Amino acid sequence: MCGIIGYIGMQEAYPIVIKGLKRLEYRGYDSAGIALYDNDDIQLYKTKGKVAELENLVSETTVSGSIGLGHTRWATHGVPNDVNSHPHFSNSGDLVIIHNGIIENYAPLKEELTKRGYVFHSDTDTEVLVNLIEDVKKSNNISLFEALPIALNQCVGAYAIAVFDRTNPEEVIVAKLGSPLAIGVGAYEKEFFIASDASPFIEYTNNAIYLEDGELASIKLGQGVEIVKITDGQNVDPYVQKLQLNLEQIEKGGFDHFMLKEIYEQPNAILDTYRGRLLPDEGIVKMAGVDDHIERFTKAKRIIIVACGTSWHAGLVAEYIFEEFARIPVEVEYASEFRYRNPIIDKDDIVIAISQSGETADTMAALKLAKEKGAFLFGVCNVVGSSISRITDAGAYTHAGPEIGVASTKAFTTQIVVLSLIALRIAKEKGSMGHKDYHYLLHEMEQIPSKVKIALEENDKIKEIAQAYKDAANFLYLGRGFNFPVALEGALKLKEISYIHAEGYPAAEMKHGPIALVDEQMPVVVIATRKGHYEKVVSNIQELKSRKGKIIGIVPKGDVQVKQIADHVIEIPETLEPFTPLLSTISLQLLSYHIAVLLEKNVDQPRNLAKSVTVE
Ligand code: G6P
Repeated sequence: MCGIIGYIGMQEAYPIVIKGLKRLEYRGYDSAGIALYDNDDIQLYKTKGKVAELENLVSETTVSGSIGLGHTRWATHGVPNDVNSHPHFSNSGDLVIIHNGIIENYAPLKEELTKRGYVFHSDTDTEVLVNLIEDVKKSNNISLFEALPIALNQCVGAYAIAVFDRTNPEEVIVAKLGSPLAIGVGAYEKEFFIASDASPFIEYTNNAIYLEDGELASIKLGQGVEIVKITDGQNVDPYVQKLQLNLEQIEKGGFDHFMLKEIYEQPNAILDTYRGRLLPDEGIVKMAGVDDHIERFTKAKRIIIVACGTSWHAGLVAEYIFEEFARIPVEVEYASEFRYRNPIIDKDDIVIAISQSGETADTMAALKLAKEKGAFLFGVCNVVGSSISRITDAGAYTHAGPEIGVASTKAFTTQIVVLSLIALRIAKEKGSMGHKDYHYLLHEMEQIPSKVKIALEENDKIKEIAQAYKDAANFLYLGRGFNFPVALEGALKLKEISYIHAEGYPAAEMKHGPIALVDEQMPVVVIATRKGHYEKVVSNIQELKSRKGKIIGIVPKGDVQVKQIADHVIEIPETLEPFTPLLSTISLQLLSYHIAVLLEKNVDQPRNLAKSVTVE
């Protein structure tokens, strides 16, 4: 993980780098640091803790410099402390580096460099890398640009790095393998920005170059960007993209937290996801990524979904949806498990990767494996131009807009929308679904944004429920059918941001173990939708009640049965059963949000987590 940012231009670098680091803090926030170059001198400030602490540290001095490198860390090698924070110097003090990723073979490299007289001050793999680069540069008497490929070709692992050489201060060199790296190109090439994503530089420029894996770029003031391949030095033409992102999208807009803002953005995010794709009156779903390969989809023997975290839960919902609509067998795999076995993949299989960031290392690795085995790869990503969207043969973006809160919310619901649209598109082509049902579903999807708005109206009531249960040590979440994955997702949300232990289960499985945990201290959140085996769920609730469990029911509007037995109910509008996850999830997101706020936890940046997990 980690976020990196750099500036080389005519302005003061410090405010640009600090602001950029705050935007990148979602990528890790164990420690932060900044290096500034001015008058032949590199000033270095770094500290354990968040960017705000770095700001406090720097506020005691005067800083200046129009070249700056900053880093916000999610610790991999070495505990989060001041010394292990980035940037790191080489032994001579000439080179300074920031790094996102892991150098897996750092131990033998460190041993070799130690024998050659290098001294290490931190426990990090990054300090090994910067000294390796220095060693190559000095022993061959070559420039940094020439030394970097030689050094990087000795490294195993992943990196997005930016390196600055005090002896050649007109240039910053960046390289990428596995971790993301964007270069913002300012007006007249008078300034350049380097960042893990475009959010730190969007207010300065919307021209960006996304480096591909295995590429290295020299960024020279007034001269532009020169890109070469790390393996063979071959030149690559820089491709400058125009970004659609705007500043408003990445700011809080009056909400206390990004998470709450993103929960409330869901009606619009869902609308944006199906806009131009869902045409109910014409009875069609248009998705270029699917349309162009429709035969592959209709003939697919199996769909394998690979994902991590919340995206994996969206995959589980999609399993129910694909099998119901398109009658294609689906397997949903944790990307991290899939890649480490020897999965059986047939050329008629389709592998769908679901990823908000499009950068998750395990999901990427699973895709690479599937590609080697000849599968057709399809990506469902939110971040445009991300690594997963580039490695896949085709795909569909979720168009949810930037998601900053570490706990995923709108990414989840929009992933379900995209996957539902794909399933409907295939269903129509295959004729696997009744004409009437198909049309009902298309029209109902159009109603989802306004129904999400109604679900959000329960906010105050949910806040009261949160108040009543915020001190519980454990929670159970139960659901059936389409809402079983929602139970898993609800439990994950609570764990992530409130640190309360929670488990999700299929409601009927409760009697095979979890019911032993139930007593008057145990809040049990039960999703009871009208067509989701309602009567059976009601019986499950009775069973829990007789063990004195505290029931929070998520029920369709106007429900009477659950209301009579549950301690609390949260209502959601009626919808067709396959779309109920899009509404029940909203209640669970709000519940975990309010509990975490009441417990005074850091909702947007929960401890030990990061938004984009680019380590394996
Ligand atoms: C991290 C995030 C989760 C996310 C998961 C997968 O753990 O904190 O919110 O669901 O990564 O990320 P992806 O970007 O691949 O969806």
